[in-house]
Amino acid sequence: MKRLAVLGHPVAHSRSPAMHNAALAELGLAREWAYEAIDLAPDEFEPRVRAMATEGLAGANVTVPHKGAALALADALSETAREIGAANTLSFEAGEIRAENTDAQGLLDALPESPAGQRALVLGAGGAARAVVWALLREGADVEVWNRTASRAETLCAELGGKSVEAPDLRTYRLLVNSTSVGLHGEDPFVELPFQASHLEDRHTMVDLVYGDSPSQLLTIAAHVGARRVDGIEILVRQGARSLEIWTGHSAPLDVMRAAARS
Ligand code: ATR
Repeated sequence: MKRLAVLGHPVAHSRSPAMHNAALAELGLAREWAYEAIDLAPDEFEPRVRAMATEGLAGANVTVPHKGAALALADALSETAREIGAANTLSFEAGEIRAENTDAQGLLDALPESPAGQRALVLGAGGAARAVVWALLREGADVEVWNRTASRAETLCAELGGKSVEAPDLRTYRLLVNSTSVGLHGEDPFVELPFQASHLEDRHTMVDLVYGDSPSQLLTIAAHVGARRVDGIEILVRQGARSLEIWTGHSAPLDVMRAAARS
């Protein structure tokens, strides 16, 4: 049996086992492969993952807060993971650990159209925002970054590119991406983020990485004004599909994964 796992915090990984096991079953691989969730505290991450590398784990997804640690312990890195500075996908082969980042491509796969040439506002400057900014810049978007703590946005842009902004004018953007955690614990986005509900228009595409059991407040308002929307579950599905393809070499059954992730 080839074992796969998501390593992280229970809140961050509750949907991944169902999504991946549904995909493995659809591909006829359920006898050979199984995907489980393993809760790891930060101080046990490195020793446990090193042990897994020799104990028959074939691959793993890594969630908050371990994406930096996953990069640091790997023996080999993809260029994407190295440039973003975070890894969400590990592969174990002959005791060696390889780290990749499928969050960036997952975001691009989830967008309704290429962001090339579009003006994009990224909210946030944490690990999630880094993958978003890297992905959008690689595709040729014109990226500006706002963060509550402005100095973190400046540091991110100095490292990855893009321009930090303190008072964004929403009329100037096509693509809006919430990569802060605002909304995760019921925060009001129109209090915490630098714009009002009335600034959203049908010309916007609103992407919200935060997801829960019901649509986020940002996406609810975006729907109300007729804007295009991408939610965090679609991005979860797309990054998971890319990870599954790395581990198994099979193309991922997106509809099956989507249905499992949303159920
Ligand atoms: P992750 O790796 O998931 O991105 P993180 O590094 O903790 O997690 O980043 C969380 C992001 O959400 C940061 O951009 C954070 O802003 P600060 O850098 O100012 O902390 C943002 N964030 C969290 N709570 C917020 C709030 N109430 N209002 C605005 N931004 C918030």
